[in-house]
This record gives sequence, structure tokens and C-alpha cells, in this order.
Amino acid sequence: MKFPSEPFKIKVVEPIRRTTHEERDRLLREAGYNLFHVPAQSVYVDLLTDSGTSAMSDDQWAGLMLGDESYAGSKNYYHLEETVRSIFGYKHVIPTHQGRMAENLLFSTIVKSGMCIPNNIHVDTTRANVEHQGAQALDVVIKEAYDPHCELPFKGNMDLVRLEEAINRVGRNRIPLVMLTITNNSGGGQPVSMDNIRQTRALLNRYRIPLFFDACRFAENCFFVKERELGYASKSILDIARELFSYGDGCIMSAKKDGLVNIGGFLSLNNDQWAQGFPTYGGLAGRDLEAMARGLHEVLDEDYLSFRVGQVRYLGELLDQAGVPILKPIGGHAVYLNAKEFLPHIQQAQFPAQALVAALYREYGIRGVEIGTVMFGKLDSATGRTIHPELEMVRLAIPRRVYTNMQITYVAESIIELYRWRERIHGLALTYEAPVLRHFTARFKELEEKPLVQQAAS
Ligand code: F0G
Repeated sequence: MKFPSEPFKIKVVEPIRRTTHEERDRLLREAGYNLFHVPAQSVYVDLLTDSGTSAMSDDQWAGLMLGDESYAGSKNYYHLEETVRSIFGYKHVIPTHQGRMAENLLFSTIVKSGMCIPNNIHVDTTRANVEHQGAQALDVVIKEAYDPHCELPFKGNMDLVRLEEAINRVGRNRIPLVMLTITNNSGGGQPVSMDNIRQTRALLNRYRIPLFFDACRFAENCFFVKERELGYASKSILDIARELFSYGDGCIMSAKKDGLVNIGGFLSLNNDQWAQGFPTYGGLAGRDLEAMARGLHEVLDEDYLSFRVGQVRYLGELLDQAGVPILKPIGGHAVYLNAKEFLPHIQQAQFPAQALVAALYREYGIRGVEIGTVMFGKLDSATGRTIHPELEMVRLAIPRRVYTNMQITYVAESIIELYRWRERIHGLALTYEAPVLRHFTARFKELEEKPLVQQAAS
């Protein structure tokens, strides 16, 4: 295994506190076994998200002091505009405070009720923004994306046959654009190949449908293209990004990921008519625009990217070699534990992934996030039963440039230890759920009875 050594040294430190098992047990009960309710101060290694949690560089912090807070014509806006144009190549650049606002601007302008937006897999925010307009958010990823054992280099690819079927079924007039999420977050942080993007473009040309990227993790996607796709090994990440975006008509971006900032995003596009509908002022301070412009340059650095993707892979490989079930191949920003296989004695109705998240925190002070029945389980109104999602995962998303490899090793060793005594983990039962987005506020209790497998055996 190649050790991903850090291409930076530490100048400022943020102390973190070790907590006791007793304290974590109490906090967990008070939080109703929902880690969104546990204070971050009581978490040792926080892998809840890689979004907005990056460490900025000294150059970005220096840029904050150069913020030009003029109402109009801020020099930082021009710097951002020039940076975005040089990487993404689109004409209009509209800053927003984060990705979901860029989505909202785009979809509220061009999506009407009854329309359909295909994507490889929508994340929860693009799905919600599309559905809010009364339109359908359609996932058209290749079917292998749903098999946690299938190892493909580009498991985020669009299924072109199903995309064309969808266009013919829905009608091109009801599809204002098609999206590609790079990397495909909801499918395990898996990349999309340049070849698949080129073919998607060619297909959409035949129907005259624009292509937009959900570009949050574009640099990580470009790194995988360089590493895995024939013909790209000697190209720079910048050149790969330029080619990739040249096949699209615009993008939405949450700079909280590959912009290496704690807040920021933008919408960038070529269409003059669509761009007219958008406000060009607001969303961020001049200093934030500067930090974002500088972050977008830094993220293209290959030493940074090989450390970044390497650190995630390092965690995944340590777990895999110890036999811990994870989603394969290892994605760009996170390792996903396969909770169905980690805890086969807990039925999906008893929330195995949530039980695993709770155990990881109580035993080791590590916070991951459930991506399974709590987040995606749906009530079948006809039968009153819950329909469980296919994948039952715990996502361990690694913040950029934040944790040392020693802390990542601690995470791996903890999970390997937990896996050894997994039979002792109990399922959970819901005690409260809100009507929408229940994962943020749901409360649970621990089921005290013996694990089901043992019950069946005895
Ligand atoms: N698109 C993708 C692919 C995302 O992963 C996210 C956020 C967004 C859009 C929305 O961006 O948060 O800046 O408004 N994903 C975060 C996560 C929250 O944890 O995966 P935002």
C-alpha cells in the first residue's frame, strides 16, 4: 500500500478533546441515538461530511485580508470570474453561498411542473430542488452502481441506453437539461469517465438537450480520469478539467468540497438568456470570493490530489484487508461501510447502519453518517409498511487537509476492533420522526433484547 504522505505542514492547530466512554454514552442517549444532535465538541474524529470542513491554506487566509467589500465591481469577484472561466470555460459566473442555492437558481428558472431532470444519481439537495418545481428527478446511473461488490473504474457512469429510453419516453421538450454528478456522491463517490461524458454529450446533441455538471468534486473526478483512463496519464489536472467541462453547457458548484473553502459556491453557464434571469450581486463577501478563487487553483495540484484520494484509499484498504465489508471500489471523498454485511444479525427494520453509527461514536468518539433506511426508507401508503433502500451504508467522509494519517489509522483500527465484536451491537427502534427529511431529527431507542440470529438459534 502506498503511504499517502502529507504535502503540507501544520501552522495552526485546533485542539480536540478526548471524551470518556461514559460521557459519550450519556450524550448518545440524550441525542436519541442521532449523531446530528451530538455537539461537535464531543467528537474526536468527525467524518460526518467533507463539505465545508476543509482546512484552508495560508495563501487562502492571506486572501481573506484582501477582501474588497465594494457593492459593485469587487476585485475579488473579477478574480473568481477569471479563475472559474479558466478552469470551467463557461461565460457567466454567478456566485452563491453554497451549492444548493446555485441549484435553486438554476432549477427555479428553467424547470417547470411536469418536466424531468435525468442525472447519474441526484443528491438529496438537487432532488429536492427539482421536485420542488413539480418535476421528476430521475436517476440513470449504470446498474452496477447499486452492487457494492462490483469493482469498475468508473462506477458513476451514465447508462446511455436508459438515458435515451427516458428521453424518448418523456419527450425532449420536457427535459430542459441533463446533469452529471462528478464524482457521484450518492453512489459512493465514484467517478464518471471522460469517454462516458463524451458519449453523453453526443447523445444529447442529437436531441439538442444541454448538459450540466454537478461539479462539487470535479478535481477528484479528474484525478481518477488521469489515473484510470487511457490517454490521460501525462495530462495535467487542469487540462483534463478543461476538456471535461468543454462537453457541458454549464455547472453548479458547491465550493465547500473541491473549492477548499468553508462557505461558497457558484453557477456558471453559457446561455445568455438563462443568465439574464439571475441576480449578479449577493451571496458572499468579497473575502469569501477571494478564498474560493485561491482554493480552486490549489485543488488542481497533483501532490494535493494524490494525498487526498490516497488518504481516503488508505483508510479503505486498511479496512478491506482486515475483512471489514466496504463499498468497492473506494471512492474519492469517503469510505462507505456496508452495514447489511457488517451487522447481518440486525434486520433493516431495526436500522443497522444507524446502530453502527451509534456504536462507532459510543466506543471510539468517531462520527459517520447513516445512508440507509433512516435517510431513504419510504412509507408505502397502501400497506403502511416501510420500503427499505437497496444499500444500507455508513459514510465516513474525510475532510480535506484536516486529519493526519495517524488519526485515520486510529479510525481504521477502531472499526476493525468494532467488527470483531459486532454481534454485541443491538438494533434500534424509532421513537420520533418528522414528516420530511427525518434523518436530521429522528430519535431512537436501543433494542435491549438479544440479537435476532442468536434468538433464532436458541
Ligand atoms: N451536489 C452534491 C453532489 C453534493 O454532495 C452536495 C452536498 C450538494 C450538491 C449541495 O451543496 O451543501 O453546498 O449546498 N453534499 C454534502 C454532503 C452536504 O455531505 O455530501 P451544498
